[in-house]
Amino acid sequence: MEELETIRARALEAVAAAASLEALEAARVAALGKKGSISGLMGRLGAMGPEERKAAGALLNAVKDEVAAAIAAAKAGLEAKALDERLARERVDVTLPVRPARQGRIHPIAQVMDEITAIFAQMGFAVAEGPDIEDDFHNFTALNIPAEHPARQMHDTFYFGERADGGRHLLRTHTSPVQIRTMLSQQPPIRIIAPGRTYRCDSDMTHTPMFHQVEGLVIDEHTHMGHLKGCLTEFVRTFFEVDEVPVRFRPSFFPFTEPSAEVDIGCSREGGELKIGPGKGWLEILGCGMVHPNVLRACGIDPDRYQGFAFGMGVERVAMLKYGIPDLRTFFESDLRWLEHYGFLPFDLPTVTGGLTR
Ligand code: FA5
Ligand code: MG
Repeated sequence: MEELETIRARALEAVAAAASLEALEAARVAALGKKGSISGLMGRLGAMGPEERKAAGALLNAVKDEVAAAIAAAKAGLEAKALDERLARERVDVTLPVRPARQGRIHPIAQVMDEITAIFAQMGFAVAEGPDIEDDFHNFTALNIPAEHPARQMHDTFYFGERADGGRHLLRTHTSPVQIRTMLSQQPPIRIIAPGRTYRCDSDMTHTPMFHQVEGLVIDEHTHMGHLKGCLTEFVRTFFEVDEVPVRFRPSFFPFTEPSAEVDIGCSREGGELKIGPGKGWLEILGCGMVHPNVLRACGIDPDRYQGFAFGMGVERVAMLKYGIPDLRTFFESDLRWLEHYGFLPFDLPTVTGGLTR
């Protein structure tokens, strides 16, 4: 059995040389497979005498075990190497950011609320607040809108369910209830603005079910309609930061003011852009007027001594005009691309002296 040594050496060599699992399998088949070299020698044992067979059999088994062990070791090595390669190939860098970095933006509504507040603060107005969920008294009755008044239908109110006492809470349809809350808790002279959310069942290019208003209220002994006009004209000039803004005071009606007016800004829609300018059309931005004596009375203020004006401005409307945003509904779609385009840098705080927008 001299060839045994040659066969052993060749088999071990083939195993050692196998660089892949496929090559190793081929080496195994060549040595230990049914027609393999070692199996071939096994087959010849039958032709030997008992003594010779015993000796040769032991030798042959030893070689077979040795080769099998070498194959097992090589296989484990190749498998570990394949796993390492796969792990390297499929490696995930857990230190990478989850999403591509985006720079945060201030929403145009927040920006414009800050701009409006900065302008009126400069004129000496304080900021007042009231709740989004209101009752009938503050939203309607105290504002000279009695129960059967058609203005209640005009407002497309969102009501909550009826309470035990028969009353119903509602989402405030305007910021005017803050007028009432302020006059009930402060004595004139009063000079406040009240920015906040308002709600109406309404939706198209220039209306959304939730929108923002800034209320204004001035009450003292001398303020008249000329002050109202001057204050709002000054606001419009400062806010829009353009020389020629077409402004129109249009006679109107509100139960809580007399006389009443609405203010429109001249604008046009061209190529998907909204532009301020004379000629084409008008967009209503606010309602205003001299506070109705009944409203003062409902708040315990003597209308023979005190008077003043109030206004309620649509924040989205002035934002659309100033920044050329044609559709109001896009404000609330939470589209990051929109926000990146129309949004503002967080550290550019608007001030009248330092610049409203940079
Ligand atoms: C009022 O809400 C009055 N409270 C305003 C007022 C206050 C008048 C004080 C007099 C004294 P009006 O319903 O017109 O009025 O709304 C005021 C402004 O809010 C409108 O000019 C418009 O700019 C804006 N606005 C009204 N409805 C919507 C809506 N659905 N979506 C966006 N903006 C709206
Ligand atoms: Mg109106």
